[in-house]
Amino acid sequence: MDYFKKGEKFYITTPIYYPSNKLHLGNCYTTVICDAVARFNRNQGKDVFFLTGTDEHGQKVSEAAAKLGKTEMSYLNEIVEDTKTLWQLLNISYDKFIRTTDDYHVFGVQNIFKTLYQKGFIYKGEYKGLYCTPCESFWTESQLVDGKCPDCGREVKVQTEEAYFFKLSAFTDKLLQLYKTNPQFLQPESRVNEMVNNFLKPGLDDLCVSRTSVKWGVPVDFDPKHTVYVWIDALPNYITALGYFCNEQSELKRFWPANVHIIGKEIVRFHAIIWPAILMALDLPLPQRVFGHGWLLFGGDKLSKSKDSGAKDCIDPRVLVPRYSADAIRYILLREIPFGSDGNYTNEILLNRFNSDLVNNFGNLVSRTLSMLKKYFGSVIPEVKEDNLPSSEQLKVVVKEETDKVFKYMSDFDVSNSLKCIFNIFSQANKYIEQTEPWAIAKDEGKQQTLANVMRNLVETIRIGATLLQPFLPDCSQKVLECMSIEHVNFSQIDKFYLLENGQSLPPLPILFPRLDIQTELEALKN
Ligand code: MSP
Repeated sequence: MDYFKKGEKFYITTPIYYPSNKLHLGNCYTTVICDAVARFNRNQGKDVFFLTGTDEHGQKVSEAAAKLGKTEMSYLNEIVEDTKTLWQLLNISYDKFIRTTDDYHVFGVQNIFKTLYQKGFIYKGEYKGLYCTPCESFWTESQLVDGKCPDCGREVKVQTEEAYFFKLSAFTDKLLQLYKTNPQFLQPESRVNEMVNNFLKPGLDDLCVSRTSVKWGVPVDFDPKHTVYVWIDALPNYITALGYFCNEQSELKRFWPANVHIIGKEIVRFHAIIWPAILMALDLPLPQRVFGHGWLLFGGDKLSKSKDSGAKDCIDPRVLVPRYSADAIRYILLREIPFGSDGNYTNEILLNRFNSDLVNNFGNLVSRTLSMLKKYFGSVIPEVKEDNLPSSEQLKVVVKEETDKVFKYMSDFDVSNSLKCIFNIFSQANKYIEQTEPWAIAKDEGKQQTLANVMRNLVETIRIGATLLQPFLPDCSQKVLECMSIEHVNFSQIDKFYLLENGQSLPPLPILFPRLDIQTELEALKN
């Protein structure tokens, strides 16, 4: 097993978030997954670039700003500041934050648009849609409510406007070929069938990529009454952030193509069909993988910025993180939702897992090991000798097997199963304590070496578990590893069971996770 891959590059992206409202726990889900994957790859010695940002153009932003009596830019600056604070709160280790209003992005998009036009992949035509005159908005049939404008409830009428189109239809065969030759491109596998059967086999339509009715957007520089429409502004952020059209020798050369775009399932079509088509048209390599994760559901519904659920205080990460720690919120997001599927979130689930996994399993293992080490060996790590206990052997086998599984799962970005494996290591260590009963061995003068072996095995197991845990729960694992004098965490020696120094001192730590009274917490969170 290759645990360490020094020097390999790894480029990972989140979607860029719409600042149509403050971000919610569902948005945190995407970002926290990417952060865990980015940190894991950094610990493997890779040269990682982790990109996130905001998707700032479009009618909705203008409307949200106008409602508050603000300019678009002052509205956006506030949401971006709140988003960056949220990412800091959750310990998100991004390398770059792109805003689609950034100059280099606007310049890049204008040039991409122009290049595609010059190559004949963009042409001028007419967009026909259902238009609400008072709201100045186009709607699709499915967006209408009782056949009327979903915003103001008034009649809509069929209207045409001049628009540019991207020749998406020309890429149908090439995309079918992509899925045939590279089924790994889109994951989980179930989403491939959806793309192929629902979109590619029936044939793709050309895509409208400009509007004259939307003012808050990137102007088409050779025809400025048009603004670039939505996806052809948003998707290229993954390359403009690396310098496409501005400074191509730099990060673009080093990091493109992306190793993975991690996105929610509702935007898979854009990333798995439109984006590769744009890249093919630009003669650029395609990302290696697109991963479409499932949704965080609250009360059976997708959390969303446009619904009340997204704004509820009781599930606001800005409330939950200060109360329960970033690690606890990261844990529940990464662990509870089976990767690739939808999963329910409730505060009850959070609190129960907090007590059972973080307090009873990991926290308890660390605190009782360190206090036994203090009691029996004055907090000094003893040397291991002639360890013949079958339970010790079993512990080492579990540690090795679960470690290997974590690496295997993480190569598929499966954060939930990886965490399960790491906590299996902690459970096995707790079981080892029950099996060996160090407090009983301690009473037998002749068994001091056995006691030393047991304590040493526990400490090393905690070291390996905490090292594996670091990308997922960076704060608590860092505390444990720092107490072991490990400052630069990486996986270069993760396969060595005995690594700490004989005689090294390991002082007890303050409690990592205090036990919660679930009823009291639920009362406090009610809103
Ligand atoms: N701006 C586009 C993306 C452009 S990428 C070139 C967008 N933004 S979004 O703000 O609506 O969504 C961003 C991400 O948040 C998506 O990956 C989406 O799936 C995720 N989530 C939004 N609500 C979610 C849940 N309730 N659960 C999990 N993820 C969710 O789409």
